[in-house]
Amino acid sequence: MCGIVGYIGHREAFPIVIKGLQRLEYRGYDSAGIALYDGNQINLSKTKGKVEDLKNKAKEISQAGSIGIGHTRWATHGVPNDVNSHPHYSNSGNLVIIHNGIIENYEAIKQELTKRGYTFQSDTDTEVLINLIEEVKKTEDVKLGKAVQIALNQVVGAYAIAVFDKEKPDEIVVAKLGSPLAIGIGEGEFFIASDASPFIEFTNNAVYLEDEEMAIIRLGKEIKLRKIKDDAVAYPRILELQMNLEEIEKGGYDHFMLKEIYEQPRAIKDTYRGRLLADQGLIRMAGIDLNMEKFLNANRIIIVACGTSWHAGLVAEYIFEDLARIPVEVEYASEFRYRNPVITDKDVLIAISQSGETADTLAAIKLAKEKGAFVFGVCNVVGSSIARETDAGAYTHAGPEIGVASTKAFTTQITVLTLMALKLAKAKGSFSETKYREYLSELETIPNKVEKSLESNALIEIIADVYKESTNCLYLGRGYNFPVALEGALKLKEISYIHAEGYPAAEMKHGPIALIDEQMPVFVIATKKGHYEKVVSNIQEIKSRKGKIIAIVTEGDEQVKDLADHVIEVPETLESLTPLLTTIPLQLLSYHIAVMRGCNVDQPRNLAKSVTVE
Ligand code: F6R
Repeated sequence: MCGIVGYIGHREAFPIVIKGLQRLEYRGYDSAGIALYDGNQINLSKTKGKVEDLKNKAKEISQAGSIGIGHTRWATHGVPNDVNSHPHYSNSGNLVIIHNGIIENYEAIKQELTKRGYTFQSDTDTEVLINLIEEVKKTEDVKLGKAVQIALNQVVGAYAIAVFDKEKPDEIVVAKLGSPLAIGIGEGEFFIASDASPFIEFTNNAVYLEDEEMAIIRLGKEIKLRKIKDDAVAYPRILELQMNLEEIEKGGYDHFMLKEIYEQPRAIKDTYRGRLLADQGLIRMAGIDLNMEKFLNANRIIIVACGTSWHAGLVAEYIFEDLARIPVEVEYASEFRYRNPVITDKDVLIAISQSGETADTLAAIKLAKEKGAFVFGVCNVVGSSIARETDAGAYTHAGPEIGVASTKAFTTQITVLTLMALKLAKAKGSFSETKYREYLSELETIPNKVEKSLESNALIEIIADVYKESTNCLYLGRGYNFPVALEGALKLKEISYIHAEGYPAAEMKHGPIALIDEQMPVFVIATKKGHYEKVVSNIQEIKSRKGKIIAIVTEGDEQVKDLADHVIEVPETLESLTPLLTTIPLQLLSYHIAVMRGCNVDQPRNLAKSVTVE
């Protein structure tokens, strides 16, 4: 978590760093800071709060200088306050650092440095690291780059850092392990950032550091990459970025989340574009084609992911088992990695991640690879750590997702996973050609049906107004729509801070039904295809206990309309594709409730978009 930005070149650094931090605020937003070098001294400003607060506070310092580093924080060590905000100075005041990650052994290093006379202003692990670098520089009598390298070989943890030395003011040293770091290469200028969004209007050329790599970024020179462990030279691979500025701006919407909800028809189309050739009865996915034997001979597929991506994994479990008849287990990456799981070289692991940076998912991948499993990634962010770490994969092509609450990532992940399941089902011959063709054609209709589902927005706003003061909500679904219930509840709690739980509808009787009273809104997914009659019985049970029922139903449904307090219609589709539609009203409901409650929809409290710490 945390976002880091840096600039060294011929322009004023301040506006570039500030704007870059604003674009990276999705990564953490409890405090922010900036350090600028004006050719003579370092001017530093930092504050608890958002980048907007930093902009005001930084009026107190000189904003001159064409070298600068900045940070937007998601606190790990030390509460969010001015002192714990980054950048951090070393004791001499010559070195300054920004850091995204965690130094796990900082306590022991701090004790050692304290014995040597160092003092610390903050509670952070980062201030310890910058002083360790200073101590190495002094005692070993080495330049900044070497000192950073030696110091990093003594620390345990994760980092993306940028370090500036007043005594060597033509360079910034950066290093990466576990947290992302991109370097934008312009004409006589360099940009440093946690992702490419801070520099996309200046350059399309970027180098993504690999784990355990560091770079000395020096004005007027080519970037030099080295391996932190053994100092071996590494060669930068310059990527041409596809992202454009429009994609990372709000485009007239009040919030990124709303924009991203409305982007779903296009995003889903982009996901299957070039892959789904319905008229030819073909699905083209190179990552599957090249590894077909591995999938077909797999004992089972294990899916690992976190949060919303884990919910997409649960939907995929139904699809893979239902269509391709391959056994699937879905695991929280954080549990999987620590529970000594049985993995063999006959297993295929699918890792799902929007950001491609989630620390637990990354660790689960590494573990599975060590045990010989074939690892396939489903990621959105191109060039991300997970995309690079996996043996093969498929991008979702959803475009940048900036709102912290995942929306289009979820539906595009399901789309990719559906294509995969269909492709495997076809290869295995596990269902008829007619059924296969029916799926392909139906998948092509989904963007229009999502568009249709979005038309309920005005009605959903009215419903949101009725339930905005609720303190608890239940979400129920069965089969393919059980994970959608979980996802609906997650969306509500994370952006509106209302307690919500998702359950398989039939589980109600085993406990949660005790919660039902006239105050309890229950969101039920009751589409025609998918255990409809059973869900209707569950609705009756809630009704007889006076719960408030808000049902997501198939267009034209009359039966549930008579029972529910509100119904929201979605178009009819094949059962396995219903999650792509039923999730839309639930996203909109959460969005409107959160807005009505005055919550910060795009940056909910305590959260960050990219969870690069475990
Ligand atoms: C919820 C949400 C999170 C993420 C989770 C995994 O709206 O966004 O639960 O889904 O942190 O992130 P990725 O998909 O980037 O691995």
